Order: sequence, then C-alpha cells, then structure tokens
Amino acid sequence: MSDSPSGTPKLTQRPEWTALEDHRKDALPQPDLRELFAADPGRAERYVVHVGDLRIDYSKHLVTDETLALLQELATATDVFGQRDAMFRGDKINVTENRAVLHTALRASRDAVIEVDGENVVPGVHAVLDKMTGFANRVRSGEWTGHTGKRIRNVVNIGIGGSDLGPAMAYETLRPYTARELTFRFVSNVDGADLHEALRDLDPAETLFIVASKTFTTIETITNATSARSWLLEGVGGDEKAVAKHFVALSTNAEKVADFGIDVDNMFEFWDWVGGRYSYDSAIGLSLMIAIGPDRFREMLDGFRIVDEHFRNAPAEANAPIVMGLLGIWYGNFHDAQSHAVLPYSHYLSKFTAYLQQLDMESNGKSVDRDGNPVEWQTGPVVWGTPGTNGQHAYYQLIHQGTRLIPADLIGFARPVAELSDELKAQHDLLMANLFAQGQALAFGKTAEEVRAEGVPEEQVPHRTFKGNRPTTTILATELTPSVLGQLVALYEHKVFVQGAVWNIDSFDQWGVELGKVLAKRVEPALTEGADVPGLDSSTAALVAAYRKLGK
Ligand code: F6P
Repeated sequence: MSDSPSGTPKLTQRPEWTALEDHRKDALPQPDLRELFAADPGRAERYVVHVGDLRIDYSKHLVTDETLALLQELATATDVFGQRDAMFRGDKINVTENRAVLHTALRASRDAVIEVDGENVVPGVHAVLDKMTGFANRVRSGEWTGHTGKRIRNVVNIGIGGSDLGPAMAYETLRPYTARELTFRFVSNVDGADLHEALRDLDPAETLFIVASKTFTTIETITNATSARSWLLEGVGGDEKAVAKHFVALSTNAEKVADFGIDVDNMFEFWDWVGGRYSYDSAIGLSLMIAIGPDRFREMLDGFRIVDEHFRNAPAEANAPIVMGLLGIWYGNFHDAQSHAVLPYSHYLSKFTAYLQQLDMESNGKSVDRDGNPVEWQTGPVVWGTPGTNGQHAYYQLIHQGTRLIPADLIGFARPVAELSDELKAQHDLLMANLFAQGQALAFGKTAEEVRAEGVPEEQVPHRTFKGNRPTTTILATELTPSVLGQLVALYEHKVFVQGAVWNIDSFDQWGVELGKVLAKRVEPALTEGADVPGLDSSTAALVAAYRKLGK
C-alpha cells in the first residue's frame, strides 16, 4: 500500500479515506441542512468551538456526527497530532529546506524553552522584541529624528509577500489603535507607481524607510529600496550619512543588509525557521509596532499564544484549527469544491483575505508529497473574498445560486470599534444583521413552495428559488482588538497546517515562485536593451518585440 521511501501509505488508499468516500456516496445527494437542524435541536450548540475570544459555529456545514468522526479518524491516521507536536518541538519539518518551522516561538513567553539544533531560540526572540520596543518608542516619542533633526512623521515599509502583506493587513486591521499623527505607507510593487504614490506628498527629512526582506535579495524590494534611497538623498542634500537615520532593515541576512549600505545596528533580526508568510509577528512587524505601540503589539502576541496553546492542548473534536482544517478537506477532497471564501464583516479586515491568500495558497499550493511523489488528491483551495457587505452586491449571487459549491467563513464582531461616533456605532447592528442573514440564506435557502406562497408567477419560481445547503463557518468575536487579530491569524495558520499534514505535503517551502523570478531576470535584458535571449519561445519573443515597438 505504500509507495514512498518513508513508508507513508498513500492517502487515498487509507481505509479512513475510503470510509469518507463511501460516506459521501451514501449521503448523496448530500445531507440537507433543514433536515439536519429539524432532526437535532441541539445542533446549533453542539457544533461550536470556543477559543480565546472567538466563538466558531460550524453547525451550518454539510456534516453529521458520523462525518466529523470519520474526519477525525483521518486526522489520527495521518498523524496530524504527532506532526503538530513535531512543529512545536522545533523538528525540521520543512523537509525540502531542512528547516524547523517555529513561528510559534515568536510568541512564546520569555521563560519558554524551544530548541533548534540544541540552542534555545526564545531568548533571541525576546532580545529582538526588546530592541524593536526601544526603537518603536523612540520613533513614537520623537526622540529618533531624521538626518536634519526633524521628527519622523512618516514610516514607509518596503517589502513584498510576507514582508508586506502581514504588516499592511495588521496596520489596516488595527487602525483605531494606531498613532494617528504618524503616516504609514506600504510599498511592495516593483511598478514604480507604487513608490511614487507612496512618497509624492512626503517630506524626505521626516520619512523613515523600513526595508523588510527575509532574504534581502528579493528584486522588487531591493529595487524599490534603492529608488527610495535616491529619493531620500536628493531630498536631504545628498549626504550619505542620512541613510543611517532614515533606513532600517528587517532581515535574516546581515551580510546583504550591510552590502546595501544599512548599518547592521539598524537591523532587526529574525531567523530561517520563520517562513515569510508566518513572519509578521517577528521583526517584520516593526512598522506595526511603531503604529500601535509595543504594549498593543505584545497583546497581539498574547492572542497568537492563546490559539497556539489551544491547538496544542484542546481535545481534537473541540480543537478549532483541527475542525476547520478537516471541514476544508471534506469539501475540497470529497465534494470537489475548488475554492474557499473568507468574508469578513469588518471594514478593518479589508486586507485580511489577501493576507490569507499567501498564507494558505503559498503553503498548500503543492502537487507533490513530502517524498516528491505526485499527489493524487486535491491540495490547497483558491482562497478569495472581500468584506462581506460589499461582496453581497457583487459576487454573492454565484455563491447563492451558481453551480459551484463554495464553502465560506463569515467573520464578525459583537461590538463596533470604540472610536466610532454613536451614530456610526448604531450601523453595527445592520452590518451584523447582514452577516447572520447571509449565513441563514446560504444554509437554508428558499424552497419553490415558499416562493410560490409569496404569489410569485410560476415562470419566475425557479429563478427565485434558493437551494440552500451552502456551507459556512461563522466566527464571532467580541471586538477587533490586537489580541483578537492574533487569535484569528494563528487560527488560520494552524488550519493550514492541519490540511498540509493530512495531505502529506511540505506546507513551508515555496519553490513554485522561483521559476517566474528566474525567467524575469532572463527576459529583462531583451526589454531594456533588445538583447537576444537564447531559447525564448516564439510567443514570448513576439510579445517582447511588440512591447519594444509600442513603447517607443
Ligand atoms: O516569492 C515568494 C517569497 O519568497 C515569499 O515567500 C516571501 O514572503 C516573499 O517572497 C518575500 O521574500 P523576502 O522577505 O525574502 O523579501
């Protein structure tokens, strides 16, 4: 049954997998949510897990107790729990890069002991957090000044992928907690327009650049940072010494930081056991720490830790990342769902799904298993979504009445943020009424009989009927605080982990982004100098020729 060198049985040949396939066939067309709720009045209370400030309701899923039990058996058979423990322990579970995966150490308490190659990494984590704290306080208080002695009023983070999405998302999410007198911008795109728009109304003498790059070799970031450096020097009279007061680096690569001309004293370190997409609670979060202050940043880390502890210790059936991960597997592997929507009912979470796209799709967008064998099962879904009410007037039609099954997470809060005026706070009930109504409509739909009973002409009945049975998880939290953000992010991090563990893939490498990078470097001289690129395919060669002709 095994065809892998490590002796791991093929997932689809495991009895726990085939039991789920059989269960799915038995239940065809599929369990009906109206019937399931009618048959089990306790369902709404039983199918809820709590973690920290999050109440996670999964009662509106196409599952029964038997489905959940079978999914849990699959998790046990694939050793999700052993793999989880190996991650927390610091084992080198990123097999293709021979690295530990220890983003959980970034939020470990000061007295924790987590070893990589026999060395406790926790003191290093706290030393960097302390250094960040000192620096953030100096910028926030005005003690850290620019080259000309002016106070820093603008902070520009230059990074891409995990070195951008996390801090940019968290800054947006926690805006009510930010120092409003400071301006924050996040530049990622190598399109010069991004940097142009970010800088056009800023005074160089008041601007601090944070160059965020784990490797410090990423072409987009180094290109933007080089242009930012020129802009700064031009703005402050050309004195190279200005760089030390206006540029800091967040990186694992001190050598490259020094090569770029940033003083390594102004570098905030992290480590190769932190994946880029798992890094915004490391030094990569410096811009966020300046924005919300070190105390709030630590509250956020506490939130992460609440979910880490829960994931480690809660029983499997009440373990939120396990339950959410397994539900995703139920749809992706046994219902042929292609995507997963994350729909926050909070304007402040407008970048949350974009952040999750990298977290989930870069982690689990894999088609070979850990041993390099092609997988014969679907892996990570397409993750997508925007804030819920806006989506309702755009693409929800397809979720309600289209032909595809799209499981969705609806995320909302019991309280609006404190800063809003009373009038704006009063809108919160309407916002949340929309969330609850969507979950209800998606689950229970509207039958043809109900439509007819409203006097709708017969020819319109099919158009106005909603089949229902569209599964959703509702995540309800008290309020969008730094801690709650940490809880939400850790929840999804571990959900992604659970799925990768079941699928037997390496969720922590990202070789799939390499080819495009290499080819871009190879093609660039053809664009800039018209150089001959050996081996260029005829389609790309024609595009390059057209580009050069049209651009003249
Ligand atoms: O290209 C993908 C990637 O390697 C991501 O995994 C990473 O978050 C991003 O690029 C940025 O990398 P770096 O922080 O090294 O600049």
